[in-house]
Amino acid sequence: MTEKKLGFIGVGNMGGAIVKALLNSKVVLPENIWCSSRTSGKVKKIQEDFPIHAAATNEELVENSDIIFMGVKPQDFFSVLEPLSSLIAQEKIVVSMAAGIPISDIKKVLQNHPRVVRIMPNTPIEVCKAVVGYCPDKQDAGTDAAMTSILQPLGYVVQVSEGDQFQALTVACGSGTGFVFELLQYWQEWLEGYGFDKDVARNMAVQTFLGAAHLAERQEQHPLDLLQSRVVSKKGVTHAGLESMRELEIERALRISFEKAVLRDSELGRK
Ligand SMILES: NC(=O)c1ccc[n+]([C@@H]2O[C@H](COP(=O)([O-])OP(=O)(O)OC[C@H]3O[C@@H](n4cnc5c(N)ncnc54)[C@H](OP(=O)(O)O)[C@@H]3O)[C@@H](O)[C@H]2O)c1
Repeated sequence: MTEKKLGFIGVGNMGGAIVKALLNSKVVLPENIWCSSRTSGKVKKIQEDFPIHAAATNEELVENSDIIFMGVKPQDFFSVLEPLSSLIAQEKIVVSMAAGIPISDIKKVLQNHPRVVRIMPNTPIEVCKAVVGYCPDKQDAGTDAAMTSILQPLGYVVQVSEGDQFQALTVACGSGTGFVFELLQYWQEWLEGYGFDKDVARNMAVQTFLGAAHLAERQEQHPLDLLQSRVVSKKGVTHAGLESMRELEIERALRISFEKAVLRDSELGRK
């Protein structure tokens, strides 16, 4: 458990999910969490379940926090951070989860040179099954230890360098769950078309993905194509379906979609 005081500016989809995951997994005590939001609703909702502190202002939150998580949208990021700049002392850590905003731009507005860390979580953080990209402004054992103790219980933490790698993780994992949910809906709808009840079709789709993922996790010594080959017999059912998937160039379609998302991430960074 971390003894650090954590502040969350913005507790929407991602900020809120991180707060709840930290509290549910007892990584931090509620009295060590401060939250603020533009309007009070989301903070009050968390307070219904946990006795966290609601900061009346972002300034109050900064004063009371050792580590400040920025959970606002990228387009609001600097208008929220800049007025706080002089209050963020050197010994604090600023954690950005904003898509597209490089550490160098964040450091430019922070007057007292605190440590800056970029993270890129995905929504399964809610159930402590996230992939969390982690990129500190520079290697420092103290920051790494503090951040690892907070992030590790929430899922699989991958240290990545900024630039192409961070962007790839943002798309494949941060946005990736969105793509997986798209596929899950195709699966569900196709089954519904064959008369399965909506809930049953949903469970069949979810359990198929979950089963494959669990198997791959348990048997990590085997490459994915080997696990796949166990489903495929020559001229069999899976073989016929896969052949069609390859003819239709599903992989190419996915790659193009990923690259489109990369372009958008770059655009957000420029704005
Ligand atoms: N959603 C994802 O899957 C995901 C994945 C990876 C990274 N991220 C990143 O996470 C960040 C947040 O995204 P989100 O989807 O969680 O957005 P969101 O649901 O819209 O939440 C944004 C939060 O910021 C608050 N906020 C706005 N202006 C504020 C201000 N001046 N002071 C304090 N709080 C303020 C909002 O308050 P109100 O609700 O009161 O307006 C809300 O609580 C983004 O930078 C995004 O790139 C998101």
